[in-house]
Order: sequence, then C-alpha cells, then structure tokens
Amino acid sequence: MSARLIAVAGTGTGVGKTVVTAGLAAALHRRGVGVRALKLVATGVAPGDAGADAALIGRATGARASDCVLETYRTARSPFAAATAEGRSVDVEALLARVRALTRERGHEVVIVEGTGGLLVPLTASATVRDLLRSLDAEVLIVARTDLGTVNHTALSVEAARNAGIRLLGVVMSDASGVEAGLAAENAGQIAAQCDIPVLGVLPRLADPEDVERLAGIVAATIDLAAFMPSASPVAGATVVASDRAHVWHPFTQTMEWRDEDPLVIRSGEGCWLVDVNGDRYLDGIASLWANVHGHAHPVLDRALHSQAGRIAHSTFLGQTHEPGALLAAELCARLPPELTRVFYSEAGAAAVEVALRVALLAQRYGGHPERNRFVSLADGYHGDTAAAVSVGRSAPFHRGLDPLLFDVLRVPPPHLVGEAAALAHASDVFARDGAHIAALVVEPRIQGAAGMWPHSDAYLRHVTGIARSHGALVICDEVATGFGRTGDLFAIGGAGVSPDILVLGKGLSGGYLPLSATVVTEAIYDVFTAPYEEHRTLYYGHTYSGNPIACAVARASLQLFDDADTLDRGRRLASRLSATLQQLVGLAVVREVRQRGVMVGIELGNPAGDALDPALRAGRRVTLAARRRHVIVRPLGDVVVLNPPLVMSEAEADMLVGAVAESVIEVAASVQELVPV
Ligand SMILES: Cc1ncc(COP(=O)(O)O)c(C=O)c1O
Repeated sequence: MSARLIAVAGTGTGVGKTVVTAGLAAALHRRGVGVRALKLVATGVAPGDAGADAALIGRATGARASDCVLETYRTARSPFAAATAEGRSVDVEALLARVRALTRERGHEVVIVEGTGGLLVPLTASATVRDLLRSLDAEVLIVARTDLGTVNHTALSVEAARNAGIRLLGVVMSDASGVEAGLAAENAGQIAAQCDIPVLGVLPRLADPEDVERLAGIVAATIDLAAFMPSASPVAGATVVASDRAHVWHPFTQTMEWRDEDPLVIRSGEGCWLVDVNGDRYLDGIASLWANVHGHAHPVLDRALHSQAGRIAHSTFLGQTHEPGALLAAELCARLPPELTRVFYSEAGAAAVEVALRVALLAQRYGGHPERNRFVSLADGYHGDTAAAVSVGRSAPFHRGLDPLLFDVLRVPPPHLVGEAAALAHASDVFARDGAHIAALVVEPRIQGAAGMWPHSDAYLRHVTGIARSHGALVICDEVATGFGRTGDLFAIGGAGVSPDILVLGKGLSGGYLPLSATVVTEAIYDVFTAPYEEHRTLYYGHTYSGNPIACAVARASLQLFDDADTLDRGRRLASRLSATLQQLVGLAVVREVRQRGVMVGIELGNPAGDALDPALRAGRRVTLAARRRHVIVRPLGDVVVLNPPLVMSEAEADMLVGAVAESVIEVAASVQELVPV
C-alpha cells in the first residue's frame, strides 16, 4: 500500500510554503503519523549544503536536512533558469522516480512534497511544476497569502490546477505579512466561495517559525489536520471490487472467469503506464484497446479537455454546430485524400461503421441503383458489435444465435487464408457474378486486426478496391483500428495509395481519450443526400452525444500533437524496435507465427508440432495473466497475444513489453502439458 502523496504549491514565491510544509509534517509526526516531508528542488543553496528550508523540514520530522531536498542549485533563480545557468538540467524523470519510491517505503503513511514557487514555474524548457505534480498524481495543497491580491492569485492557481486535471486538496493561507485578522478571514471566505474549494486554515504570523515545537502546536490549532491524515485504508480497492462484482457486466469478459479472478482496479494513468489503486504500475501494451496514441494524462490533451469542459460539456450536433466539431472536421479532411470532404460523427467505431453501411446503401438508391443492396466483406474481418457491423464482420463462435438480427453478406477470402492471387481471383469472381447488386465493399486496410492481426499487402488492397470500383460498388475502408499512425502512416489508406468513398475512423481519433468516431465521405456522396425535403433524403441517423464538443476538442489537440511532437516518427521507430525485439519469440517452439504491421502485433501460439491449440487450454489468456504478474498489460484474441502500444512508447518500455510477454509465453508453455516443447 503506498503512502498518501500531498504536494504543496504556492500562489507565488515566498508565500510561506516551507513553513506550512514543515508545520504540517511536524504536527502529523507528533500524532504518530509516518510522515516524510521534503522539497523537490531548492535554488540559492551553496554546494554541499541542503539549504535552510530543508533544514527546517528536517527538524520538523527528525530527519537529516540532506534527506529533505532532492535537487539543489547554487543560483537563486527558477529551477530552469538556475539549472541552465549552471549548465545542468532538472531531471524530472529522476524526481518522479524518487518521490514514487518514497511513497512505497515502509513506514511512510503520508509523503509531503513541496514544489518550487507557483504551479507554472518552469523546471525545464517543456515542463513546469504543475506537470510534475500531475505526473505524480499528488493531491495538491495551495498555500496562499492573506493580504490584498490573494483572491486573484489563488483563483488563478486553482484554475491552472483544475485545467490540468490536478486533484486539489484545499487551500491553506499563511499570514506571512501579518494582516489584520478581519481581512484574512474575509479573503479566506471569498476564496472558498469563489473557487469552491475548502480553505483548511489560516496560519498566523509566527514570531519564530524555526521553533518547530511551537510551529507544530500552532498548525494543529489553526489548520484542519484531519484533511492530511493517511488515506483511510486499502478499503478503496476492495469497495470497488465488491461493487463491481455485485453490479457490473463487463464487455467481452467471460463472467465466470471474471467472478473468480483478482481484478485489476485502475485508478490513474501516466504516459504508457496504468496505475492501480494500490499504486502498482502496469505498462499499457495495448494502448487501452488500441486507442491511446500520445500516452495517458498527456498535459496538452488534458488541457484541451478541461478548457472545453469549462465552456460547455455537451450541446447537440443535430441541426446545430460548435467550434470544436466544425474545426475538427476541417482539420481531419485536410489530412485525408482530397476526395473525402464530409465528416459525420458518432461515438463508437461500430456506430461509424453502421453509418457507413447506411450511407452506402442509400447513396446507391438515391443515385438510381436501388438494386445495389448487398455488401461484400472479407472473411475474418471485424467491424464492431452493432447489428449491421456484425453482419459484415460475422464470426461463427461469437455470433451464434444472433441470426434474426443480422443480414447476409457476400464474403471473400482474405490473402492470409488462400494467398493473395487466389484472394483477388475470388473477389473478381464474386463481383463478376453479383456486381450489379453490390452496394459496397468493406475492408480493413493493411491489416485485419481483431481477427488476429492478419496483414495483407498494399498491392492487394489497391487491387481488391479497384475490382469493386470497376463494378460500380462503393469502397468503405474501416480504419477504426489502423488509423492515426498504427501502421506507420497517419492513415493506412494514405500509405497504401487508396482513396475510398467512405472512411471509418474511431479509437485514436481522440488520442484514445474519449468516445469519438467518424464516417468521412466524398462530396459526391454528400450531394446525393442534398435534396428538397419532400424527397426525404435526410440521413435519419444520429446519437444524443454525436459530435460531443469535449471529445472533438481533445481530437483537435491530438491531431495537432501529431504535427508538434513527431508522433508518427516515434510510432515508426517503435515499430522497428518491436520488430527487432520480437525476434526473441520467433524461435520459440510454442509460437506459431509473429505478425506485425507498424505497432500492431499478433503473436500466435501453437503447439510444438505447429498446430493450433485446443481453445479450452485458454493459452492466450494464461499468457496475458502471466504478463500482468510482470506488470505488463496485453490482451488475447483467442490464442493470439496482441501488442498494440501507444505510439509514444519508449524503446526501453517496448523492450520491457516484449521481454515480459516472451517470459510469460515460456512460463505458460512450461506449465501446460500440450505446449511443452518436445
Ligand atoms: C476495424 C474495426 N472496426 C470497428 C471496430 C469497432 O470499434 P468500437 O469498439 O469503438 O465500436 C473495431 C474495434 O476494435 C475495429 O477494430
């Protein structure tokens, strides 16, 4: 169980943060709480010394001053300026690692870290104190002055914290300048009301703040110490599990296995890591279902989310518009083949597929071809779980018993089943026979993901879509899985040189943050729906939350990050790193095949003779559970173990991901008789 982590930030420099930090630590220490307090960075400290602030905090808790500060700089400037002046740089990652380690140390129930100055004080060229505190997922206490101007400074700090998704514990006011009691109380009341935040106390001006015994007493008398006590207990996790077990039904989750397994309860995320209620960290090897692009809790995306939420969380897109929805559509189209000009928003990928199928059918009808009412899709395709999406992506084991809901489609074998030439010949035959009745071909470009990561060549994609076109069918490319960099290009169609009539996007559209999907069509298709009211060509389709402004605002920020943060190149470098490290699995007797396109990877397990495994062995699931014990999250598709990490995963993290999966495969092979290499 990790300690409760509280960070102390000021509304500015010299507001009394250190006295409050030391006072709180001293008061908690005297109540028997296992408290550890320290400053993250101190500037203006002579080499070899820890500085006066660290000395005070040390005296408050009986610790050595040198243990009460993590980094010191001689120059009395902001950490970034001081580090730059001294030819050094603040090592944010090292600071994060050290604080996290402290929260796990035995005996630590509350860790209090004091930031430097205010929240937006720079630590490096790209990171502020706020970024660091947010990465720590600390509860933040804001220390404010009592005098004139404090309401404005405190409100700005509270807003800056909330915009970044920081959890605020409250405000403590420090009367460093000795204002009259009435003004301090008035300002405290105003801050509490205006910022909707608890003011946990007003620390009076102290004659001698260095007297820690007295300081502890005054803090206990003036500040609500209960707000700083260790978190109740590990009950939080247990309560979540109990409620879940009693009331939740999880998607694609075997209910009997779920009932019996020890569930992972995620509380927060950071970069490529997920953190559970116990503070244990897990590498997100599947980008939270192939969606996360730039990492969790990304400051830019968080900011976009919070700032839109501060304006309006939702207003309907039916017969109205808004800035994030309209601008996102334009920015998306600017990155797509020029023929694709109109964006229709939904939330799930499946819903966007549903729209694509309806639009294709109706476009053919309104274009004078009502007889074109059939769809062609690839065997082993997956397009989501609503009824029409399942019809074009049906798989026998999943969809048994659903026939009354589904319609019949023409299915063509993909290259991995019959080889590329035969797959094309088969498609040609189907179109030659039924072409006059086909509304559209639906295909996942470059790789059929959910069926087990089956790639095909760009040439196949160009040919099969060409065959469809030559018979008057529309082409629907479903890039819900492949879009946003996963196959090495922003969109697989761009890389493959294909321009469909209808493109379906989802998952990574919002950077993996919020439910948002899109069906993008050509102007020619949009035009056939544009007719007088009496013709009833309105697309009678839409969801309450279609085009949600927060999701659109985050999606815009995510698209911008592709430009600003070298995201595609990072994804390509990650793909090469994965491909190199995956070699360690290629030789294993229990691995039938390793398939990869970009960062999308499928490791197919088999027995040493090269045959498929008995599904009842649940080998894929066993591997994912073994990987979880190694703090790595992957998910099986049957006996294919899937890796599909955020594009920004580092090389070291990628090595850890593949290494843990390789170890897990070996462990499972050793424990399952049918898998043991002969
Ligand atoms: C190619 C493809 N299409 C559609 C979907 C469905 O998306 P959603 O789960 O958001 O409905 C998926 C989901 O994995 C997919 O891979």
